[in-house]
This record gives sequence, C-alpha cells and structure tokens, in this order.
Amino acid sequence: MIILSIESSCDETAAAIVKEGRIVLSDIVHSQVKLHAKWGGVVPEIASRNHLIEVIPVIDQALKQAEVTWADIDAIAVTQGPGLVGALLVGLQVAKSLAYVHQKPLIPVHHLRGHLSAVALHAPNEAQPKVPEYPFLALVVSGGHTAIYRVDSSHDIKIISNTQDDAAGEAFDKVSRMLGLGYPGGPVIEKEAVGGQDDAHRFTLPNIKAAPLDFSFSGLKTAVLTKIKKHGKLPTGQDQKDLLASFQAAAVHQLVTRCTEAMKQEQVLRLVVSGGVACNQRLREQLQTAVEALEGQVFIPPKKWCTDNAAMIAAAAYAQANLYVKRGAHADDDLLNAMSSWAVDYFVEPLGI
Ligand code: KG4
Ligand code: ZN
Repeated sequence: MIILSIESSCDETAAAIVKEGRIVLSDIVHSQVKLHAKWGGVVPEIASRNHLIEVIPVIDQALKQAEVTWADIDAIAVTQGPGLVGALLVGLQVAKSLAYVHQKPLIPVHHLRGHLSAVALHAPNEAQPKVPEYPFLALVVSGGHTAIYRVDSSHDIKIISNTQDDAAGEAFDKVSRMLGLGYPGGPVIEKEAVGGQDDAHRFTLPNIKAAPLDFSFSGLKTAVLTKIKKHGKLPTGQDQKDLLASFQAAAVHQLVTRCTEAMKQEQVLRLVVSGGVACNQRLREQLQTAVEALEGQVFIPPKKWCTDNAAMIAAAAYAQANLYVKRGAHADDDLLNAMSSWAVDYFVEPLGI
C-alpha cells in the first residue's frame, strides 16, 4: 500500500510518499515561515497564495525522491481540516484533481488524527518504532491546538482537556513577538533561554475550577508583558534569558502537570505527544521524567514529524485506504469540502495505528 499524502492546513506545503502507513519513502515540507515572519504570525491569504505556487513542485519532488511513479500509488490522502480554510482548499482541490485524473481513491484526513498517528512513522532504514496499545492519552500541542485526547480505539477518540484561550505555541509566538525575537517563537525562545534561570520570575499555574484539566496560556503571556513593562525597556542579555527561561519553564510545567493529572484521572499510563511544541527539548525531557515516575510510557515522534508534515497524514489514512483499495471504492469527491473547525470526535474513520 503506497499512499501519496498532501498537507496544506497552515503555512507548510507538504507532500509525502508512505508505504504501509509507516515507512516514509519521501517527506517534502516547504515552509512559508520566512514569508510570514515580518507579520509575526501566519497571514491566511499569503499562506493560500503560496500553497498554490508550491503544491505541484512539492508533490513532484515527493514522487521523485521516493522513486515512484503514478502507477505505484494506491491512494491519495489529504488534510480536510481543521485549519485555514483557504489553505486547506488548495491541497484538497489538487488532491481531488489528481485522484480524478489518475483514478485513485481519495482519503480525507483530520489533521489532528495525523498528529496522533505520527508516532508510527519511520525511515526505510530505521527499525519500526514501538506504538502504544489502546487506550492511550494524546497531547497535541501546536500553534493552533493544545488539547489532551483519550483514545480508546482507532474509532473512539474523546477530547478530555482543551485550552480555554491561547494554544501553547501561540504563547511562545506572542512572547517572542513582544521581545522582537521573530516568528516562530518556540525555537527562538528555546535557543535564547539557554543560560537563563528558570526561577528568576515566578508565574503561577492557572487554576480553572470548572475544568481543572484545561489549559490556559493567555494569563502567562500577559504576566510576561507586565514584567517587560515593569522593567521599563525591552530586556536584553541575561535579563532576557532569565525572562525567557522562566516563561518556558512555566509553559512546560503547565503542559506536564496537566498530562500527569489526566493520566491519573483516566488511569491510562500511555501518553502520545505531538505538534510543533513537542519539538521543545525541555518538554520532551520533563514529560519523560514525569511519566516514568508514574511508571507510564511516553511516545513522541522525532522532531521532524512533530511539526506539520504530510507523512503523518498518510499514516492516519492507512486503515481507510486499505478498505477503499480492497473495495475498489472512491470517496464521493463532491462531498469533500474544507473544514476549518472540526471536532476530532466527529470523524469516525479508523486511525493509522
Ligand atoms: O504543529 P505546528 O508546526 O503547526 C501548527 O500550529 O499546527 O506547530 C507550530 C508551533 C509554533 O507556535 C511554534 O512556535 C511552536 O510550534 N514550536 C515550538 C518549538 N518548535 C516549534 N514551541 C516551543 N519550543 C519549540 N522548540
Ligand atoms: Zn498541526
């Protein structure tokens, strides 16, 4: 089963060729970060226009790098949502056209199910990674989402914690912008925080009485802004490092605490972590330590498959692609439309793991 997958939900134009839902033969990601950097965040219209320019070259490159032709492709998978509607439309329209021209089944994929399935991916020369047994919890933590899901089977996914305001990645991006450090904020903050003191500033853990497992990052962002205002000018040198290290420590602490609380509450000791913020080394290490202390297991994909990519979309599409190919069926393309906001539990297709 060889799947060509396409992802264009935000500011990455991506295509991949994946064998058996796991073995990544090629994985091309064209990032638009430079185009959005001067605005301090993703500008939807700029994203859509650039997807249009890049999508065909990215697909061609994926086919070429994997050394496959259209005759080798069994199915096409594409992100249907959630995401920026104009950005999604580009990938979806191209996928529909290619499926029609080459007569391949088209598999629509929920973006967050892609993130959940990324743990199964590996390169052809790598051993198969261990994937979690059901049930497991999954933290998806990116610029657009910060949520914990309970996954009881490939069909049964429930959200058990969400953010009340900003996503964690959004907080990194906004703090970076306040300090004039550029976009995306996560990698810059992680780098600039090295040598800073985690406890130089105290930021409190939000206490949301009605939903104790929920996240909140907007208070933390405002607290950082207040510190900057009190400082009288933009902090530089060691002052900046201390502020960033303390902010990063508070954000990581909130994510880790909520995950361990959720694991105890749900009595599930397996945790999958994915999304751009899962690239943060502090977060990876502290989750590992905290979950091991509960005698649980953490599953985090390599960093390149934590951020948006198309390989994870193929992984999520695998089970469904098998069904389509066996039945010789095609999705009803006319019904496929971009879904800008889309709850994960509305999507009943099986996961790829
Ligand atoms: O999953 P992703 O590529 O795109 C979506 O938002 O769906 O995630 C991007 C987000 C950005 O907010 C970025 O600042 C954050 O992930 N990020 C990080 C790190 N690398 C990326 N946040 C913290 N530490 C990092 N190392
Ligand atoms: Zn994402």
